[in-house]
Amino acid sequence: MNEFSSHKIMAMNMENIQYSLQNNEFRICVVGIGRIGLPTALSFANAGLNTIGVDINENLVQMINSGQYPLKDEPEFDKIFDKVISEKKFLATTDISVALPKSDIVILSLPTPMDKNYVPDYSSILSVASNINKFLSSGSLVIVESTVEPGFIENDFIPVIEGKNKNLKLTIDFTVAACPETANPGEIMSDFKKLPRLVGGIDERTTNIASSLYKHVFGVEMMSMPDCKTANAAKLTGNVFRDINIAFINELAMLFEKLGIDTMKVLEACDKKYNFQTHYPGAGVGGPCLPVNSYQFLNSARRLDDGVLRIIEAAREINEHMPYHTIELLVDALNEKGKSVKDSTIAVLGVSYKPNVRDIQLAPAEEIIKKLDQLKANIKIYDPYFINAEIFSHKTEENLFNAISNSDGVLLVTAHNEFKEIDPTLFKSKMKTPIVIDCRGILDMRSAKKAGLVFRGIGRGW
Ligand SMILES: NC(=O)c1ccc[n+]([C@@H]2O[C@H](COP(=O)([O-])OP(=O)(O)OC[C@H]3O[C@@H](n4cnc5c(N)ncnc54)[C@H](O)[C@@H]3O)[C@@H](O)[C@H]2O)c1
Repeated sequence: MNEFSSHKIMAMNMENIQYSLQNNEFRICVVGIGRIGLPTALSFANAGLNTIGVDINENLVQMINSGQYPLKDEPEFDKIFDKVISEKKFLATTDISVALPKSDIVILSLPTPMDKNYVPDYSSILSVASNINKFLSSGSLVIVESTVEPGFIENDFIPVIEGKNKNLKLTIDFTVAACPETANPGEIMSDFKKLPRLVGGIDERTTNIASSLYKHVFGVEMMSMPDCKTANAAKLTGNVFRDINIAFINELAMLFEKLGIDTMKVLEACDKKYNFQTHYPGAGVGGPCLPVNSYQFLNSARRLDDGVLRIIEAAREINEHMPYHTIELLVDALNEKGKSVKDSTIAVLGVSYKPNVRDIQLAPAEEIIKKLDQLKANIKIYDPYFINAEIFSHKTEENLFNAISNSDGVLLVTAHNEFKEIDPTLFKSKMKTPIVIDCRGILDMRSAKKAGLVFRGIGRGW
């Protein structure tokens, strides 16, 4: 056990903690400085606290330490980055054994994906837990920001920190809180400024310490939760609510296509009622959060032998079908023109899982492209966030015109701002066969028709 740290936060009363926060005496270590961890680390450093970021990605660490801001699609943090790097309030390292002993508060923002069998993969968080066992400074606070299942912290994470021989004791050598992150990629700064923070510690004192820390840095409303598992349950419930509601609209959207009803008009009307929350249909639900979070709840139920969570399971089934439904719409439109997918040139517009971010984790575009490959289409891809890149085994185009020129079909998969500005007549003038499948309600159907497009849209019956 290392004893280098001078501020044993666990042993301090709340008054001294406030004093130390005001005087920037705590040292922060953020492990995992990716999409969520880097903005978090920058916020702590910007509040005046000396902050070190740990990451296994050597390129990322090198980039940060040489003053290059890596998250180009997260506005406002670039200026904070320049400031805290020049003030030497923030630096990065790949060496956790150096960073942990010098820190009073350790924040984990590590990936929590799932494996190919949809089982949550907590390997990186558990491997860091065993490093915490070896290198943590005595009396430190460990905060888990990663999204994990309710009970994971209590049943799996803490025992690894304690070690096989229980060389570290919870509440004596270290304490743990969950502060699950709820910010949205691309909007992290605005979310950090306004969203309440959920904090649940392993005891009330830990909850209070973690709350005072986050209140000091972010100045937002704090939601104290009774324990870690309730905090994690709240985080998952919020996201899974969205997954389920999107599935509900996707299912209706497929019905409305057959009934000749435009889902967008239905949603516009429903939105007028104060207790309706609008969710939009689309080509599928991707990203590092929503699909994984649903499987985390399904995994919790399975582990308890509680069988299935039927609504979540059905929602996943529907949302995972949407990339194939996109292909069904394409096949239908091509048939109208006497063509098949084989040997047709199809332009996929947008590969990010959501608009205006550079992120392809679990993106529906991947399944769509795989299916087009199987059907032997010639595929062109354009995404303003991935220019001349290699994505899903295809080289992406340099611009929109290259992608759509001479193509037989366009799939509007992601609602990036650039795509919202396209005049439908452009498709008609550039494409060989003017088939457009709008997966995100981007095009106005009347204008599309007027422009002479063979138009299909998810949920867009006419
Ligand atoms: N991205 C989001 O939209 C979002 C929103 C809210 C919460 N979350 C949750 O936050 C957590 C982090 O997600 P993210 O999107 O920032 O992931 P990310 O992949 O962008 O970043 C994770 C970082 O951790 C690093 N890393 C992996 N293993 C490591 C190890 N053993 N030691 C040190 N560093 C390691 C990676 O190199 C990467 O830089 C996840 O649990 C996620 O579910 C994500």
